[in-house]
Amino acid sequence: MIGGGQLARMTHRAAIDLGITMHVLCPDKHEPAPAAGAIWHQGSADDEQAFRGLAAAVDAITLDHELVNRDGLERLVKDGYTVRPSPAALAFAQDKLFARSTLGDMGFPVPAFSEIDDADQIETFASHHGWPVVLKARSGGYDGRGVELVSSRDDAQAVLDRGGNWLVEAFVPIATEIAVVIARRPGGQTATYPVVETVQDDGICVELVMPARIDDAVAASAIELGTSIAKAIEVTGILAVEMFITPKAELVINEVATRPHNSGHATIEGSVTSQFSNHLRAVLDWPLGSTAMTSAVAATVNLLGGDQHVEPTERLQQALADPDVHVHLYGKGWRPGRKLGHVTVTGDDADTVLASARRAAAVLTQP
Ligand SMILES: Nc1ncnc2c1ncn2[C@@H]1O[C@H](COP(=O)(O)OP(=O)(O)O)[C@@H](O)[C@H]1O
Ligand SMILES: [Mg+2]
Repeated sequence: MIGGGQLARMTHRAAIDLGITMHVLCPDKHEPAPAAGAIWHQGSADDEQAFRGLAAAVDAITLDHELVNRDGLERLVKDGYTVRPSPAALAFAQDKLFARSTLGDMGFPVPAFSEIDDADQIETFASHHGWPVVLKARSGGYDGRGVELVSSRDDAQAVLDRGGNWLVEAFVPIATEIAVVIARRPGGQTATYPVVETVQDDGICVELVMPARIDDAVAASAIELGTSIAKAIEVTGILAVEMFITPKAELVINEVATRPHNSGHATIEGSVTSQFSNHLRAVLDWPLGSTAMTSAVAATVNLLGGDQHVEPTERLQQALADPDVHVHLYGKGWRPGRKLGHVTVTGDDADTVLASARRAAAVLTQP
C-alpha cells in the first residue's frame, strides 16, 4: 500500500487474518501502519523510485490515499506491475474537477459546477446559481480542508488569494449525507454494503450510522447509483461514493474515493466482511466476502483531537468500561481536529448505539 496512515493500518490488520504480508510505503516509520507492524518502505507518495522498490517486493500495489504520483503508477502498469485501483480510476478521486465533469458527462447527477480562474467567473456563476457557492480545491483537499462556502465576491477573492486551483459549485441543500461503499474485482464482480449515513461537522466526518435512516427507495437508488459509478470508472478495490440527499429526496453525487474510506469503518464490527478485508480481496482478485450486517445497526463515532490535549490512550480503560464499545486507536499524536481513532457500537437500535458510541468518544477525547 502506498501511504501508511490509519487506512493502511486497518488494512494491515485485515491482511493478518488472510495471511497476507502488508508492505507500506510512507515517509516515516512511526506512521500508523508501519508502527503496527506492516513492513515499512521509506519514501513519499510522489517518489517513483520508491514505488519501484515497493513493486519489486509485492504482488499488487494499492493506495491508502489519493495524493499519489499517477504518472509514476502509469509507468508501473506499463512495466507489468499490478496496480489496483488503476491510475485511470484513481483520477476520479484525485481531481475533483475531472470527477465532476466526467461523471456529469456520463449522466450521473452532480451539482452545477464550473472551472474558474478568477473572482469574476465566480460572480458570474453565482448570478446563475445564487450565493452562497462552494469553492473546492481541485486536488489535495481532505476533511473539509479545501472546501469553502463563500457568500460574496470579496470572500471568493480571499480564497483565491491563498493560491492553488479551485473550482466553483452550487451550494446543495442537504437533508442527509450518505456514502455507498462498494468492493469491485477486476472482472467486475461487486459487493455493496448497506448505505451509510454520515455526519460532517465543518467538513470533517464525525459519525456514521449503518444502515442509513433513509427511505428504502432512496437507499435502493443510491446503491444503484454507486454500483453504476463503480462499473463506469472500472474501479478495483473499495470505492466509496459520497452523496447528498436533498430535502426533495434527490440524490446528488459529491465525491468518490477509490480506497477504503472513513464511511466504511462501521463494517469492521457491523459487517460479516470489513471494507478492509474486501479491499484486499478485490485488489488481489479473490472472491469477495459477504457485506451482510452482523446486527441490525452499527454506529461509529470518530475520535477527533479536541482543543485541549487529551490522549485517548489515557482514557482507554474508562471507555472500555462499556463492554459494547469497540475502540480503534490509530497510534497518532494528538492535534486539534486530527482523526486519532474511532469507536463503533453495534446493536438493535440506532439511537442507543449512537448514544453509547458518542459517550465513549467523549470520554476518549474531551477533558
Ligand atoms: N456543493 C456542496 N453543497 C453543500 N455542501 C457541500 C458541497 N460540497 C461539499 N459540501 C460539504 O462539505 C463537506 C466536504 O466536502 P468534500 O467535497 O467531501 O471534501 P473533502 O474531500 O474534504 O471530504 C461535504 O461532506 C459536505 O458536508
Ligand atoms: Mg468528502
